Amino acid sequence: MSENAVQFLLDRQSVKFVRAPGPNEAQLGLILQAAMSAPDHGKLRPWRFSLIRQDVMPQFVDKLFATAQASPTPIPAQKEENARRWLSEVPLLIALACHRDHGNTKIPENERMLAVGAAAMNMLNAAHMLGFGAFWSTGLGTYIEEVNEMLGFDPLDYRFMGYLAVGTPIDETYPVTRPDHRQFVKEYRP
Ligand SMILES: Cc1cc2nc3c(=O)[nH]c(=O)nc-3n(C[C@H](O)[C@H](O)[C@H](O)COP(=O)(O)O)c2cc1C
Repeated sequence: MSENAVQFLLDRQSVKFVRAPGPNEAQLGLILQAAMSAPDHGKLRPWRFSLIRQDVMPQFVDKLFATAQASPTPIPAQKEENARRWLSEVPLLIALACHRDHGNTKIPENERMLAVGAAAMNMLNAAHMLGFGAFWSTGLGTYIEEVNEMLGFDPLDYRFMGYLAVGTPIDETYPVTRPDHRQFVKEYRP
């Protein structure tokens, strides 16, 4: 059993191009609940999620690009076109943010961001285990403050960390070659 579970982790790969059906409510609940099992120094629960579902996707996309293009760092036209094509099929985006929690002087902000990253990884794995494709993107205006504000994540209080696209893979997926872990590991010798 446990080796099979690890095999799921080994087999996960990102799948950008997804379409409906996305997760149903029970499956989405499991994916989001998986985020709650992420390691979290001080139990600060720094993760925040905003669900962008397919029924509001066209409005989100129009607002996103109107906001981004009026900002000091507009998105190039070709990127906008590609993103619009991509999002026209995506059934669910989970926008990710980290609560900066300025009042907390004990636990550094980078640890809170690591906790949100771990939560995102748990969600990617949960989506994969449920048979969905998922992809973490820091495109779509992730680093444009006006876009963060539009999503309700004021940069003063939140660090916006991108989006997870989740749905049914459009194309067939093939196993990907991963590096041998030994390239990255050494033994500590005192
Ligand atoms: C924080 C983060 C942000 C990412 N943003 C993008 C992105 O904006 N565009 C992109 O093509 N890949 C992005 N990636 C990479 C993909 O999500 C994915 O990991 C990559 O395509 C490799 O696929 P794999 O997960 O199967 O190894 C990002 C990954 C991380 C961890």
